[in-house]
Amino acid sequence: MTPQDLMKQEVGKAAAARVQSNSIVGLGTGSTTAFAIEFIGKRLADGEITNVKGIPTSFQATVLAKQYGIPLTTLDEADRIDIAIDGADEVDPNKNLIKGGGAAHTQEKVVDALANQFIVVVDNTKIVDKLGSTFLVPVEVIPMAVTPVMRAIEKLGGKPQLRMGVKKAGPVVTDQGNLVVDVKFDSIDNPADLEKTLNNIPGVLENGLFVGVADLILVGEVQGDKVIIKEM
Ligand code: A5P
Repeated sequence: MTPQDLMKQEVGKAAAARVQSNSIVGLGTGSTTAFAIEFIGKRLADGEITNVKGIPTSFQATVLAKQYGIPLTTLDEADRIDIAIDGADEVDPNKNLIKGGGAAHTQEKVVDALANQFIVVVDNTKIVDKLGSTFLVPVEVIPMAVTPVMRAIEKLGGKPQLRMGVKKAGPVVTDQGNLVVDVKFDSIDNPADLEKTLNNIPGVLENGLFVGVADLILVGEVQGDKVIIKEM
């Protein structure tokens, strides 16, 4: 395991340890959350916690929850989400995030925003002073609107690029059947405004700026030969 994978594993485990019996858990997407899902499943299998139901944020989360034996429910059936655990691509000092590296940010925002407590799990490479420093802002767009949306984003000063598939010819298609435009902004001075402005472009479904949604950030960090978990 690389040091980064080790950080992801330990921070995933730390978040899974916070899940209590009789709770409904939002299950995020990505390689860090995958460890959390694995450890929630393990705690259920060991009888350490009981009566936990998951609400997945993607096909990936659904597949992993089934693999690790976490019963699933839906937003139609559940009357609340007690805790959501999800990764991020960038975290700023105000606990604002960029998400969507896995093209799952639309369902993630629905679930994470509904949770009574939203815990973000990251390794320390994700911490930035300012959003947009290392990562582009993902924007999910309905396919027929992709050209006008890209033009509108250029007018806002962004540089949009259509996300292309890996081991799949053509663009990435989201779990909802839409496309993703990744946008480079020279400087994101007001993430809250940009989040709203992007979502106001006709044809945009959701963007990966998560402003004021996270309650707690758990950060994995290598110190010497072990990983420590810091809280933000
Ligand atoms: C999925 O669309 C994303 O929001 C992920 O949560 C984010 O990209 C973090 O993923 P990793 O934990 O794999 O870095």
